[in-house]
Amino acid sequence: MIADKIQKQLKKVLLELGIDNPKVQLEHPADETHGDWSTNIALQYHKQIDDFSNPRELAEAVIEKLKPFSEETHEIYKLSIAGPGFINFRLAKEYFRTRIIKMAEMNSPDFFAEYINKNKDKKVIVEYSSPNIAKPFTVGHLRSTIIGDAVANLYEVLGWQVYRDNHLGDWGTQFGKLIYAIKTWGDREEISESKNPIKDLVKLYIKFHEEAEEKPEIEDIGRSWFRKLEEGDDEARSLWNWCIELSWKEFRGIYGELGISFTENNGRGYGESFFEDKMSEVVSLLEEKLTPEDAVKNGAHYAEGDNGAKLIFFEDEKYPPMMLMKKDGATLYSTRDFATDYFRLAQYDNPDLIVNEVGAEQSLYFEQLYKVEQIMGWYKPGQRVHVKHGLYRFKDKKMSTRRGNVIWLEDVIAEAKKRAEALSPDKKHIAHVVAIGALKWNDLKSETTRDIIFDWDDLLSMKGNSGPYIQYATVRAKSVLRKAALEEFYPGFGDDSWKLDKDEMSLVRHLDRFTEVVEQAAKEFAPHHLATYLFELAQRFNGFYNTHPIINAENSDARERRCTLTQVAAKVLEYGLSLLGIQTPEEM
Ligand code: ARG
Repeated sequence: MIADKIQKQLKKVLLELGIDNPKVQLEHPADETHGDWSTNIALQYHKQIDDFSNPRELAEAVIEKLKPFSEETHEIYKLSIAGPGFINFRLAKEYFRTRIIKMAEMNSPDFFAEYINKNKDKKVIVEYSSPNIAKPFTVGHLRSTIIGDAVANLYEVLGWQVYRDNHLGDWGTQFGKLIYAIKTWGDREEISESKNPIKDLVKLYIKFHEEAEEKPEIEDIGRSWFRKLEEGDDEARSLWNWCIELSWKEFRGIYGELGISFTENNGRGYGESFFEDKMSEVVSLLEEKLTPEDAVKNGAHYAEGDNGAKLIFFEDEKYPPMMLMKKDGATLYSTRDFATDYFRLAQYDNPDLIVNEVGAEQSLYFEQLYKVEQIMGWYKPGQRVHVKHGLYRFKDKKMSTRRGNVIWLEDVIAEAKKRAEALSPDKKHIAHVVAIGALKWNDLKSETTRDIIFDWDDLLSMKGNSGPYIQYATVRAKSVLRKAALEEFYPGFGDDSWKLDKDEMSLVRHLDRFTEVVEQAAKEFAPHHLATYLFELAQRFNGFYNTHPIINAENSDARERRCTLTQVAAKVLEYGLSLLGIQTPEEM
């Protein structure tokens, strides 16, 4: 990659000038007319070298020393100094020409060949979606599903070995209560046949809590049913399994609509119940290591609370105690998370990275979890990452009046489809791809931590920063290519034809940055970098398309060149969307 080459040369030059272990940052200047890359090393280092009284002087010396390199590569057109001492690199047309022709010839995944070589031995577990059994699949789970899938895709395309896991909430004392409720008030046959069995189960669970206010003794009965479940009692197990299957029926529908899949545990992911028999070992390990004597050294210690519950106490005051075991010996969500991450060490032979895509409201909890896992020596800082998402805020009155963020996802998907159908009534078959694309784009276009506004009109607008807008630009580019009959211009064109005007050049520059944007998005666990890039690309492509005849260009050179640009734009748009989990319809 050209940036790597430039960086290496700059380091060499700084070493020659006597700087130990120099750090070189390259950036794209905000204004493209200033150059393609820029560095501030002269400002950063001039004080450390006696020969130069100001950064510009150092910049000049650096440029002088870079000359042989820049003449040799043919990839750099011009080096210049800007402002107080920034060094700007303007890349040569030869660089862009070669790059674009290569991209036109390659299959899209091969754009990433260099990364694949670098990363093929790295392992990442991306855990996302993680809904709860017998509970609604919430908007939070939807966000986790969409964002987690995109993050997994980004790592995959960069060559990492990606394990897609789903940490289902399928264990815990609430199942004892639910079992009691089903047995007492539920009609299994009716529920099995109902249109939305989960709604019925949720109703039963709510009823349990209402009744418990009058008759607190049923709490104990609920607890005893959970104990039976833990002990493997047939009836308890069979009711629990029944709930799981009902829930999976719904989840399968949702994942099918969204085009989501998991790789672990036969495609179901390792839910909390998988760790049922793995918790006691982990609790002992924690107990052994986190002794009160070493509390200061470790930063945390394990102890029994007044009522017999087992907790981890932190030295750092910002962390409240974390409960590991209730007073009756029951395990918790956190116990299962420790068991999960301990299991992963062996199962994946020390994975390089584990990502939990979970709502921002669990931030403190994950900080505590990671902290303890570091003390235990399981993971180093940076190996555990909480990718958090904010909430949905509804503009729509009907939706905002619902309590909490519990909306039924199937209603959202149905509404999205209905609206997508209205967008192009004669092409109803594309409504699904457009609807799902619009939903996903709305989630991925801004930083994941931010709350997002959910407004049907924006979501499906053909004009603004929306899924349909990007899909439409892609469809348009592809349809030009169909009409151009590819073989007429493929593969590439002669040197003479490479005279780019401003709009063409702006498109070319942007296309060149695709792979680096994907890398940045992965590194920062921030799919919105890719979405922002694609939005800009769609705009640049539309600008080019609206002002330049492509098939009817003024001469065959221009025609070949523009067809090639269109081809690369179509590839990058379509492939970029696919990395965000969004398909491109054949027509729109
Ligand atoms: N099931 C949980 C919920 O709905 C999310 C699980 C997140 N993952 C984890 N490893 N704790 O809130």
